[in-house]
Amino acid sequence: MMSLMCKMNMGRVKMLSLIVFLLMVCSSVVNATVSYDDKAFIINGKRKILISGSIHYPRSTPEMWPDLIQKAKDGGLDVIQTYVFWNVHEPSPGKYDFGGRYDLVKFIKLVQQAGLYVHLRIGPYICAEWNFGGFPAWLKYVPGIEFRTDNGPFKVKMQGFVEQIVSMMKSEKLFEPQGGPIIMSQIENEYGPVEWEIGAPGKAYTKWAANMAVGLNTGVPWIMCKQEDAPASVIDTCNGFYCENFRPNTPNKPKMFTELWTGWYTQFGGPVPKRPAEDIAFAVARFVQNNGSFFNYYMYHGGTNFGRTGSGLFVATSYDYDAPIDEYGLLNEPKYSHLTNLHKAIKLSEPALVSSYPTVTWPGKNQEIHVFSSRTGACAAFLSNLDPHFSTKVTFRNMQYDLPPWSISILPDCKNVVYNTARVSTKSSEPKFTPVGNGLAWQSFIEAIPSSSDTDTISKDGLWEQISVTRDTSDYLWYMTEINIAPGEGFLKNGQSPLLTVMSAGHTLHVFINGQLSGTVYGGLENPRLTFNENVKLRAGINKISLCSVTVGLANVGTHFEKWNAGILGPVTLKGLNEGTRDLTKQRWTYKVGLKGESLNLETTAGSSSVEWGAGSLIAQKQPFTWYKATFDAPAGNDPLALDMSAMGKGQIWINGQSIGRHWPAYIAKGNCGECSYAGTYTEKKCLHYCGKPSQTWYHVPRSWLKARGNLLVVFEEWGGNPSWINLVRRTV
Ligand SMILES: *[C@@H]1O[C@H](CO)[C@@H](O)[C@H](O)[C@H]1NC(C)=O
Repeated sequence: MMSLMCKMNMGRVKMLSLIVFLLMVCSSVVNATVSYDDKAFIINGKRKILISGSIHYPRSTPEMWPDLIQKAKDGGLDVIQTYVFWNVHEPSPGKYDFGGRYDLVKFIKLVQQAGLYVHLRIGPYICAEWNFGGFPAWLKYVPGIEFRTDNGPFKVKMQGFVEQIVSMMKSEKLFEPQGGPIIMSQIENEYGPVEWEIGAPGKAYTKWAANMAVGLNTGVPWIMCKQEDAPASVIDTCNGFYCENFRPNTPNKPKMFTELWTGWYTQFGGPVPKRPAEDIAFAVARFVQNNGSFFNYYMYHGGTNFGRTGSGLFVATSYDYDAPIDEYGLLNEPKYSHLTNLHKAIKLSEPALVSSYPTVTWPGKNQEIHVFSSRTGACAAFLSNLDPHFSTKVTFRNMQYDLPPWSISILPDCKNVVYNTARVSTKSSEPKFTPVGNGLAWQSFIEAIPSSSDTDTISKDGLWEQISVTRDTSDYLWYMTEINIAPGEGFLKNGQSPLLTVMSAGHTLHVFINGQLSGTVYGGLENPRLTFNENVKLRAGINKISLCSVTVGLANVGTHFEKWNAGILGPVTLKGLNEGTRDLTKQRWTYKVGLKGESLNLETTAGSSSVEWGAGSLIAQKQPFTWYKATFDAPAGNDPLALDMSAMGKGQIWINGQSIGRHWPAYIAKGNCGECSYAGTYTEKKCLHYCGKPSQTWYHVPRSWLKARGNLLVVFEEWGGNPSWINLVRRTV
């Protein structure tokens, strides 16, 4: 409130005594180095239009960070926004990891060295298409816990982690009043819709979370995105494709766009979404001309979901997001330069933008003019054409201006157009992948199919939910049982084999009968549930049924997403026997977590030499559940590298023991892949690519994971593929 009063009075007051009075009142604002009013963030006494971009430190490597940050700076950004990723920092309770890709302090210090600010979204719920929304899997098993509501055990754990991050930032002197780069933090994340659904406990939790955060005295403001009822002490903000009509919930808060989506994420089995640079620039200009003073590109660099960090519902390993900097750290043109030019136009207009409100006029159909004119003489104008199809001519201060469809011209001096959101002056980049080297010499090792008589297993009556058994230490869980078939019984009255039905909560399932693969099923993009329903060949006597249930990340979003189940929950039935239907659901089941190759650490040099591999003509081809390995030397030069996995099915990839991520090119993208289309005025222009093709063919290999010679590449293939077609490729634009 105080800062608002300062601003409102400033222009009017003439009397010296009142100015002295105001200086006294306003001094509290000046002393706090970061504050805000309704217009903007105020840093060291100056209102700022802040241009921000998301770069998530675990989605690239420390070796890539300086270059990404420099490109962000050259692109005209003031702020780097990142989430804090709880589950990589505390993989088991009280055991912390802040090294390598998880070195948060190093990342923030690099941003500071580049002269940029940081927006730290502590969460600790982050959504982010990240495994379990950023929560460690063990959190689900804290007694009595319920996530993201007024729940004692949850609040204790959440507060513990938030306090730990804040005290780490304080001891490293990273908050702005301490001389550091962090100018704002975030507590929770997009909680409003959940609160709306659960009601009173949600409201109480929101208040608690805000008070807890503010009580940590970081010296910089806290924000809550998509939280219309954020308390007075916290700024509510907008996420979306467009946010021009958003208003913060009290008049003393600046209008902030914390996630302006530059594209969208890719799912295995989904198309690759694109958002044109022109439409992003249009969304920014519309936001700024309507009092917006902070906007953040989500993502500015999307990067890669290395390892098993991609979330449930089949989020792909690439998190490129069609961001201005591509997954590999190269410029995505014309998006990068078109937005860089936009930022220049906005900065030229900044003096007018931060010191006045716009006067809006509508000179013609679908035409809009916003003029910012301050008492100091600064003037900036935005001329809009809201028609998505036709260009128009706008007359402004006796001059005529041509406006392409769906575009805004920026006039930082109210006279000369320096930028139009639809006029792109940069050539498109042409991303290319070029094979390097002469192919790879592969060796193979066939994963053993376990059975219920194995010793390293656990047994019980009935079916277990998958995550409660694996605790997400592996994607794989074996469910094994035996079926005794009386002589003559299994081969069926009408000559047909019996019908095995297995109902699973997801995400994929391989059915082995007596060690032979009998079928594979997988869930859909909207619903990961699946049913295996096929006739199976059984023999008289004991038959060994081994079902491998595979998760593809844990859910990251939805009310009480922690309660989503995975794995075979039943029923499991066998139909067509003389006795009728046999229900296998409640009988004895035996469990084994993970693959043999995982327990042998085949992805490492030591582990891979512990087994005998087949080579030459003995290499398994088109063989499910097979490990492949090869060694290669690092290609010369600095171009980013990738693996072309188009000939493979589904599995995981490692280089020198580090996980490149999950591959699944065999899940072919379906869905609506029409031309780019407007869903309507004020709605995003969407383009979808690669329908009828694999969602992701190329997998990023960070240069820094390679040594000069003898790099170990290991692939686990679930479905069966042809490894001789795997290529190391060079990425250029
Ligand atoms: C800008 O903010 C002022 C003050 O809150 C408000 O009166 C005005 O309507 C806003 N203008 C636009 C275009 O949103």
